[in-house]
Amino acid sequence: MSTGVVIVAAGSGKRMGGHRNKLWLPLAGEPILAHTVRLFASHQDIDQIVLVVSEPDYADVLALLKAENLPVTVALGGNERQDSVRNGLAALATSCTYVLVHDAARPFVTKQQISDMIRQVQRDQATIMAVPVKDTIKVVGASGFVEDTPARESLWAVQTPQAFRMSLLQEAHEAAKKAGKLGTDDAMLVEWLGHPVSVMQGSYENIKITTPDDLWLGEEIMRKRRGE
Ligand code: CTP
Ligand code: MG
Repeated sequence: MSTGVVIVAAGSGKRMGGHRNKLWLPLAGEPILAHTVRLFASHQDIDQIVLVVSEPDYADVLALLKAENLPVTVALGGNERQDSVRNGLAALATSCTYVLVHDAARPFVTKQQISDMIRQVQRDQATIMAVPVKDTIKVVGASGFVEDTPARESLWAVQTPQAFRMSLLQEAHEAAKKAGKLGTDDAMLVEWLGHPVSVMQGSYENIKITTPDDLWLGEEIMRKRRGE
């Protein structure tokens, strides 16, 4: 059974505030993007990697992949993350039965978590990684007043990777596009089909590098993992 991964890297990193895509920023001296791609390239359960990039990054990404001899198929992204994932799926070999979708901006997912997720998706067909929220979450209306406080026990913060039977995710993306619907993650599109999505507990270290604060937190995680 063949498993592919679509790594989306075609954002612009607006919230980071730099002059180019945040994924080029260094973590332990190397681009965030390099950490994420290497992890999947060296994973024994991953058969194909599609890396989705934006046009401004295209040439530099090719150079990076060549320099490190990484076996990766490169696809071009779109305006929204959902468009980028869809383009990535189109570039994935039809022989892939399962696909993981992962944010390049999450370099701290572990090989063990990836293996566990592949095992779980073979059972459930749609599986996402998430962690219980630590804060109390409130629904705040446009008026600036609290409208609701959902029970914290049922709230999970969703991460990537998310894994799916390939045919199911393709169907979900086609249906969303046809209906003009934009989801904030891939699982949402599968949920719209009425298909159950199982949750695998991830880790609080699997942060998404989003704002400058995340960079020093990322360096700390790297240091911890190196045993320093
Ligand atoms: N992404 C993508 N295509 C897009 C938008 C985002 O491939 N059109 C990717 C990003 O490169 C990132 C992941 O989706 O790896 C998660 O997105 P996010 O963290 O929001 O990154 P950016 O969109 O780049 O950041 P921002 O929202 O701050 O601009
Ligand atoms: Mg974004």
